[in-house]
Amino acid sequence: MIKKNVLITGTSTGLGFETAILFANNGYKVYATMRNLKKADALNTKIETDNLDIEILPLDVTDVKSIHSAVSKIINQDGKIDILINNAGAGFGKTTEHTNEEEIRWVTEVNYHGVIFCTQAVLPFMRKQKSGQIISITSIGGLVGQPFNELYCGAKFGVEGFMEALATYVSEAFNIKITCVEPGGISTEFMKSAIEKTMINGQFATGEYLPIFQRYMAGNQKRASEGKEQVYQTGLEVAEEIIKIVKTEKPPLRVRTSKWAEKICELKTKADPDGTKIVAQIKENFL
Ligand SMILES: NC(=O)c1ccc[n+]([C@@H]2O[C@H](COP(=O)([O-])OP(=O)(O)OC[C@H]3O[C@@H](n4cnc5c(N)ncnc54)[C@H](OP(=O)(O)O)[C@@H]3O)[C@@H](O)[C@H]2O)c1
Repeated sequence: MIKKNVLITGTSTGLGFETAILFANNGYKVYATMRNLKKADALNTKIETDNLDIEILPLDVTDVKSIHSAVSKIINQDGKIDILINNAGAGFGKTTEHTNEEEIRWVTEVNYHGVIFCTQAVLPFMRKQKSGQIISITSIGGLVGQPFNELYCGAKFGVEGFMEALATYVSEAFNIKITCVEPGGISTEFMKSAIEKTMINGQFATGEYLPIFQRYMAGNQKRASEGKEQVYQTGLEVAEEIIKIVKTEKPPLRVRTSKWAEKICELKTKADPDGTKIVAQIKENFL
């Protein structure tokens, strides 16, 4: 039997790394992509020791050429692409005033445009196959705006809107399943690299923003120490939620991955927790 294949972005660390291994352990052919192949050592070691069916390919979600070359390689080898997992993402905690043009473009390119370009690259093949699945890892920040995260949240809100709009017509017409995975916190490299990018001349924030930022950071630390288990999931725990979605016959548009994530988003999601109603309503009104 030909294995189902899966293309995952951002597999050098964290959730992408764990998802690649979990899918391979569950019988999928995994195309684990990363922007910097020098970071492939950990995954290569796992592939060798556990004899995993994972092929590592270069793919930078901000480089459309690299996206198309990874997709072409998969199509040339397998003649199909079953699942795309838009996982690559990055952010920082900064005020809009403190963020420069380059940073604004970067956070939008990685988190928003990256998802669009990867999705655009696989859609023609999934449409022809009349089957496929696209999963984007957004965040509770894709549903709820958080202080000092407006640029990251804006990009993740964008992904939620993009995915919701796709779900209203490509799912039924071409049998392409669409889901946003919305984790709360995940214990990965994400926070560390976000904090590094957050510094402004060695400080986290300046001027009138500083006391607000300090309150925000103190809250973060409190949540991290007191309610660690509730707030933070491991990459593997979130990866297990992703594989559940793939094994579900009719997966919903939206999946929060923890009780904490659910609670934080509840005011926004109560009327339609998994997006089924809104997709049905939009179809009824527009199609
Ligand atoms: N950690 C959290 O608390 C949290 C919460 C909710 C949602 N999320 C989302 O979960 C997803 C995975 O994040 P994580 O927690 O696993 O963080 P992570 O450990 O920092 O992993 C992020 C991955 O994205 C990759 N990446 C960054 N820019 C890229 C680019 N231009 N092209 C390709 N890959 C790129 C990184 O590669 P490099 O190693 O080369 O940088 C890394 O492999 C992200 O979409 C994130 O927004 C995270």
